[in-house]
Amino acid sequence: MSSLDVLVVGGGGREHALAWKLAQSPRVRRIVCAPGNAGIARETECVAVPAEDVAALADLAVRERFGLVVVGPEAPLTAGLVDALAARGIRAFGPTRDGAQLEGSKAFTKDLLRDAGVATAAYETFDDPEAAHAYLARVGAPIVVKADGLAAGKGVVVAETVAEAREAIDSILRDRLFGEAGARVVLEEKLVGEEVSFLALTDGRSVLPLATSQDHKRIGDGDTGPNTGGMGAYSPAPIMTPELEREVVARVLQPVVAKLRERGIVYKGVLYAGLMVSEGRASVLEFNVRFGDPECQPLLMRLRSDLVDVVDAVIDERLHEITLDWDPRAAACVVLAAAGYPGTPAKGAVIRGLDVAAREPDTVVFHAGTAGGSGGSVVTSGGRVLGVTALGETIAEAVAAAYRATAHIHFDGMQFRRDIGRRALSRSA
Ligand SMILES: Nc1ncnc2c1ncn2[C@@H]1O[C@H](COP(=O)(O)OP(=O)(O)O)[C@@H](O)[C@H]1O
Ligand SMILES: [Mg+2]
Repeated sequence: MSSLDVLVVGGGGREHALAWKLAQSPRVRRIVCAPGNAGIARETECVAVPAEDVAALADLAVRERFGLVVVGPEAPLTAGLVDALAARGIRAFGPTRDGAQLEGSKAFTKDLLRDAGVATAAYETFDDPEAAHAYLARVGAPIVVKADGLAAGKGVVVAETVAEAREAIDSILRDRLFGEAGARVVLEEKLVGEEVSFLALTDGRSVLPLATSQDHKRIGDGDTGPNTGGMGAYSPAPIMTPELEREVVARVLQPVVAKLRERGIVYKGVLYAGLMVSEGRASVLEFNVRFGDPECQPLLMRLRSDLVDVVDAVIDERLHEITLDWDPRAAACVVLAAAGYPGTPAKGAVIRGLDVAAREPDTVVFHAGTAGGSGGSVVTSGGRVLGVTALGETIAEAVAAAYRATAHIHFDGMQFRRDIGRRALSRSA
């Protein structure tokens, strides 16, 4: 029955997890990943087409007659890859360009939230630096300054002083630090509370929550140092209580999906809400329009359902017909990063111990920034290099298993956090 050829777009740990999970489907005949990485290439075909090259990806999909395209990262979604594929009759998982504005434009999202009556920080949007400065002078600090568009996780400054906010406004609007992604800024009220992420699937009408998960954004133990793409993650996340989950579905995700629909946007794919929770109430910080990386890795290790069936239900607007089957065990992912990360990472360091680590039970070493080196070796080629992911009866056991496998792996300058899952563990203790 395996007859489906699937193209996975992207080349990080998330895409390795997607390809790994899709390969387990009895419906899948062939998987190709563009561009992939050294770990994905060990298991499946990779082609050197960049994840941002919409035209080349659409040509590839037509030429190779893929029956399904699964898009990992946000850039091709906001650039309209799903629209380009649909125009050529190819099924794809992920929102179209108009839906992807939820991540591609913070101003779009804030206006939509206001319109839908969803809780979010008070804000104003500016394209004129003078007007932004005048508003800042009026409201004062602390204040959060956000570049409107995609800025690789570097476009937000939580300013404690007016001087800091002024500088952020100027570097975004005047100096165009993020190019056209900084043609507008959002200035918003600083919220306090605990940050939680919540991922769900939607077909534009139904909302189906994924298992709960939590990531670790800062580079250093105890949530210190600069922000990163994510240094680890675990699932489930005890902070997300059933009550909070119901509140987020009913007061955030459902109204947002309905408001999009009212505007003619049928949003299909993963909807990832970044929330600030205080006294049991959730306020929206932002949306992402795809799986989080690294949350995707522990989530897919726990997902027992066939991912192709799930993706089909989203695309065909039958999400209300399915349920998701999860492994009751917990999963944890420890990210191993290159020297220099989150600044410019050192490339070309030889990675040792991958095969030994992969022999640990219930453990998968997902690759991110890796490339093939000389003599069959694997070398570092990006900031986040590997995501060592393991299952365990409890979060503590999953975390311990991920660290046990990590102990086998070495490359020059390797850095990782020693406290993945700490918040969940202190909560359950
Ligand atoms: N209104 C806010 N109040 C307090 N902290 C905020 C606020 N908005 C964003 N942040 C902080 O900044 C981080 C990045 O902001 P976010 O909106 O998630 O943008 P991005 O992920 O695109 O960089 C958040 O994870 C949060 O820690
Ligand atoms: Mg964020």
